[in-house]
Amino acid sequence: MAVNLLLGLQWGDEGKGKIVDVLTKDYDIIARFQGGPNAGHTLIFDGQKHVLHTIPSGIFHDKAINVVGNGVVIDPVIFNKELDNLSNYNIDFKSKLLISRKAHLILPTHRLLDAASETSKGKAKIGSTLKGIGPTYMDKTGRNGMRIGDLELENWKVKYNTLTAKHIRMIDFYEVEIEYDLKELEAEFFKAIETLKELTFIDSEEYLNNAIKNGKTILAEGAQGSLLDIDFGTYPFVTSSNTTAAGACTGLGVAPNKIGDVFGIFKAYTTRVGSGPFPTELFDEAGATMSKVGHEFGATTGRPRRCGWLDLVALKYAVQVNGVTQLMMMKGDVLSGFDTLKVCTSYNYKGTEVNHLPYNIEEHNVTPIYTEIKCWKEDLTKMTSEEQLPKELNDYIKFIEDFVEVPVKIVSVGPDRKQTILR
Ligand code: GDP
Ligand code: IMO
Ligand code: MG
Repeated sequence: MAVNLLLGLQWGDEGKGKIVDVLTKDYDIIARFQGGPNAGHTLIFDGQKHVLHTIPSGIFHDKAINVVGNGVVIDPVIFNKELDNLSNYNIDFKSKLLISRKAHLILPTHRLLDAASETSKGKAKIGSTLKGIGPTYMDKTGRNGMRIGDLELENWKVKYNTLTAKHIRMIDFYEVEIEYDLKELEAEFFKAIETLKELTFIDSEEYLNNAIKNGKTILAEGAQGSLLDIDFGTYPFVTSSNTTAAGACTGLGVAPNKIGDVFGIFKAYTTRVGSGPFPTELFDEAGATMSKVGHEFGATTGRPRRCGWLDLVALKYAVQVNGVTQLMMMKGDVLSGFDTLKVCTSYNYKGTEVNHLPYNIEEHNVTPIYTEIKCWKEDLTKMTSEEQLPKELNDYIKFIEDFVEVPVKIVSVGPDRKQTILR
C-alpha cells in the first residue's frame, strides 16, 4: 500500500522521530500531517543529537522528499531556526523540503494569545507549549487563518494587519499581564517569512496523490500522541489537532483507501508533559528512576515529563481508534533492573471494574488495577538481535501483544538509530 502511518499511542514523546528516521530508507516521501512546533522529535546518529519541530524526520536521508502537509501549523521564526540548525548538512532544502500552500501560519500574536489564555486559566491551565498552537487552529476552524499560500499574494500584509489587530483586542479581553514588544516580534517574523518564501510551496494534496499514482511510497509522520487528540484525547487537556489516523487523511489530502499499515509507537512505560489526568502516574522512587534513566525532559520546552506504569487500557483504546497494524515498543532499556513491573489492565471506575477508557479518567473517578510482571535485569542497550533479548522482556512483550491483539515488530533499546531491533 502506498501510504503508511506512524503515530504516537500515548501522550507524545514516544520516540516517533527516531523511528521515522530509521524507516525513511524504505520510503520516497516523509510527510508531517498535523501539529506544529509544539512537537519535538529527537534523532540520534553518528554521535549527534538533532531535535526537529516542524521539519519531517526524514530530512537527513539523501533520497527522501520531506513534505509539510496542509494539516500542519508553521511558525516561520521557529522554522528558520530549524533550517539554521541543519546548515552544516548540505541539504538542498529547495528540492527536498516541500511546504503545503494550505498549511496555516502561526503569527506572533497567536503565541501571545496562547500565553494570555493559559495565564487567565490559572491552576486549570492546559500546560500548553506556548507555541500558539491552540489560537492558530482556532483561527483555522473559525475561517480567519492565514495560510502559506497567502504569502504568494501581493497584499498578504493587509490580511496580516487585520488579523493581528483583532488578536490585540482579544489579548486585552483576557485582562492578564502579558509583556510584549510587537514591533520586535514582527521584525523577526517578517525576516523569517522572507527566508520561508525561498522554499518550495506546493499544492501538497495534488503532489502526494500524483506520487501515489506513480507508485511512490509515503510514510506519514504523526506528532503528539493519541491521548492528546482533540476528539479522542483527555479533553480539554489535549492539543488542537487530530493526532490519530484520520488526521493523516485530512492533514495530507490522502483518501482512507490509500492507507496501508498503521505503525503505533509506545514507550514500555508512560510519560506526559503538561496538565491533565494520568491514572498510572507515579510519585515514588520508581517514577523518579524512569525520569532519571529515561532522561524524561521535554524536547521542546525542557519541562520534566511525568512518569508512570504502562497503561494497557489506554493503549488498547489508542490501537482501536487508529487501527494500528504493527506496534513498536520504545525505551525498554530504561526499565532494566526493576524487580517487577506493573501494567494497568483495567480501571476501578467509580467503584466498578471497567476494561475501557471511560469519559472521565480524573483521579477521583479512576484507580488503575495492575498486573505484576517480572522485569529483566540485563542491559539491553548493546543488544542487536531478537535472539539476545531476555526472556522476561519477551514475556512482557507477549503480554502486551495478547492484550491489545497487535504484534510488536520493533523493539528500541536506546536512543541511537542503530539501537533498533526488528522482530
Ligand atoms: P517524539 O516526540 O515521539 O519524537 O519523542 P521525543 O524525541 O520527544 O522523546 C523521545 C526521547 O527518548 C528522545 O530523547 C529520544 O532520543 C529517546 N529515545 C528514543 N528511543 C529510545 C530508546 O529506545 N531508549 C532510550 N533510552 N531512549 C530513547
Ligand atoms: P511530540 O510530537 C508531548 C502537550 C503539551 C500540553 C498539551 C497542549 O514531541 O510528541 P499545545 O502546545 O499543543 O497547545 O499543548 O499537549 N504537547 C505535547 N506533549 N509531546 C508533544 O509533541 C506535545 N505537543 C503538545 O505539553 O500538555
Ligand atoms: Mg517529543
